[in-house]
Amino acid sequence: KIETSHGGPEEGESLTSRLPTREGWWKPFFLFQGFWLTPEVIRSTVLMQAQFRPRADDIFLATYPKCGTTWLKALAFTVANRSRHPVASHAHPVLTSNPQDLVPFLVLRPIKELEALPSPRLLSTHLSCTSLPSGASTLGCRIVYLCREPKDVLVSTWHFFTNKVHKDFHIDLGKAFEFFCEGFSIGGPFWEHCLGYWKQSMEEPGRVLFLKYDEMMANPAEHVKILAEFLGVPFTEKEESAGVVEEVVRLCSFENLKSLPVNSTGVSDRVGGLPTENSSFFRSGKVGDWKNHLTEEMASKLDCIVEEKLKGSGLSF
Ligand code: A3P
Repeated sequence: KIETSHGGPEEGESLTSRLPTREGWWKPFFLFQGFWLTPEVIRSTVLMQAQFRPRADDIFLATYPKCGTTWLKALAFTVANRSRHPVASHAHPVLTSNPQDLVPFLVLRPIKELEALPSPRLLSTHLSCTSLPSGASTLGCRIVYLCREPKDVLVSTWHFFTNKVHKDFHIDLGKAFEFFCEGFSIGGPFWEHCLGYWKQSMEEPGRVLFLKYDEMMANPAEHVKILAEFLGVPFTEKEESAGVVEEVVRLCSFENLKSLPVNSTGVSDRVGGLPTENSSFFRSGKVGDWKNHLTEEMASKLDCIVEEKLKGSGLSF
């Protein structure tokens, strides 16, 4: 069993050296608290678990990578801040900031920066629910979890990490597929990540909102209303009849975000040592794009694995 460290950064260093490790992605990953992560994320998580003090009104936006984090950040920020930033404003922050920068990540950011944020804080994480700051659950911190159809997650992951995030790193789709099926993908196993939050959402539906990218794409307005309700800022009748819900959907739509200069140009290093093109967060934004990349055989293999892993949980894709 891997111990959950609550020590400082030095302890994080020695912890990494004792963890199971595996190569194949752009750098070795380590199995930490049940999930494959980079050493930087592990060290930062250890620090966060030791030092970060959750507040009862914190809201965590939790996602497995490539499940729609950018979209969820844009939506939650827009919905939660609409009294300060009217959705139709020409100076809306979504128009001038990459959504990744509107909601800070819980790890790989200085804790002081997070502490300086006014309440209620919106924070984002790719960590599993078991790695969230201790106290978050007892304090009743709310969590919005967004997941996505696994074949689309794999294809999106492959596109993002091959040649995009690390210019010298290339991985064949076949290899990325094999790794994903083995649970060896960044933040994986994918199904364990989903299951953890799924179970929590079943136990505490008022505290954990479980969303699916595919369902949100099918009916974004309905989900924006659900999100607003959950964040404690439901739309008023007046707002609904004025079309504010639809304005949020349009502002945060894939097409709109992708077309903005702030998202279509430039490179940002948000996590230190991993410069990423801003445009790489906006690729195709489609449900079912896996059909353009995976063979029938690959698709049914991954479907079978995921079905088996989720068996009896009530969760399906
Ligand atoms: P694709 O690679 O399938 O296009 P994350 O934000 O977690 O990194 O997820 C990225 C995925 O979400 C990418 O999927 C990206 O295109 C898609 N995406 C980004 N912004 C979106 C939006 N506003 N609406 C829908 N999908 C979006």
